[in-house]
Amino acid sequence: MFNRRPPLVILFALFLTLLTGCNSLDYTEDHEQLSEEERIIIRFSHIVGENTPKGLAARKFAKIVKERSNGFVEVQVFPNGFLYKDGEEISALKKGDIQMIAPATSKMTNEIPEWQVMDLPFAFRDVEDVHTYLSGPIGRNLLAQFEPKGFYPLGVWDNGFKQITNESHPLIKTSDFKDLKFRVMPSPIIASQFEILGANVQSNSFNEVYQLLKNGRIDGQENTFSNIHSKNLQSLQSHLTVSNHGYLGYVVLMNNSFWNDLPKDIQILLSETMLEVSKWEMKKAEELNESNFQALENCDCIAIHHLSVDQKKQWEDAFKPLYQKFKNRFGSDYIKTLPKYEGE
Ligand code: LMR
Repeated sequence: MFNRRPPLVILFALFLTLLTGCNSLDYTEDHEQLSEEERIIIRFSHIVGENTPKGLAARKFAKIVKERSNGFVEVQVFPNGFLYKDGEEISALKKGDIQMIAPATSKMTNEIPEWQVMDLPFAFRDVEDVHTYLSGPIGRNLLAQFEPKGFYPLGVWDNGFKQITNESHPLIKTSDFKDLKFRVMPSPIIASQFEILGANVQSNSFNEVYQLLKNGRIDGQENTFSNIHSKNLQSLQSHLTVSNHGYLGYVVLMNNSFWNDLPKDIQILLSETMLEVSKWEMKKAEELNESNFQALENCDCIAIHHLSVDQKKQWEDAFKPLYQKFKNRFGSDYIKTLPKYEGE
């Protein structure tokens, strides 16, 4: 799978080597009896369901960290936006009210607008392209921009590629988007992606999408198979276009001061565990999106449309001005190093 360049996890292995220079400590003592004040508590808030790539990986991370530290480090996972809603979790992390989040990279574009490169439609052909890009010089540069903003990037997790759903008619030609209203994540490039096709957008939190569709306040939305299926959006939408037009992935962030105050051996334990869980998560994301796609195909509840090569080309051509828009603002390096242009 990772045959072109070192996989993304290597990048984090590198972080780890720099960080450590020694092996992780052996936690032989049992810390279960210690009070919360005596242990290290990491509150990890996220906004998706438990049975999603992010939800499962968060749980797995918490479990392994607890085992390996003999209960000294407890990662408390709060899924589904129970603790902080989408749109609130980033500032809560910054303030130190929580210690860990894993937002979609699109949601970090307010803090670091250059991350919008990940949202350019058809920027990546597959997740392998994404891993290649993020583990290369541009990706390292993008990740390095988190620390000065108060975030420590502990890992990168995949979800997968976004598809588009809509209620009234199939979305096949670019003109089919005209005058429809879509919910988008808060990333200007994503908004432009719909606006350039004559559609309208509104940015809402993920947890509102079901109600917005139900009340007819939006016509459609874009997301991965696992996010569509886990929120049962297929029950409210008649058409799904398998477009794979945009990548959705996460950056796993800790509050930077909290991270810096952690003992070195705990940093090592967390980094090592994150590395292992990230590998697992990437496989799981692929599997879940595949099985959720199968479930949508078999549910007999939503019409699934595939784009022909020519139809996909029409979409790609329509989105070309967005690349120019991005270049005008951020320069050409982010774009010319996209793996799809390799060898050109
Ligand atoms: C969305 O808002 O659509 C996604 O960011 C949800 C998620 O975190 O996967």
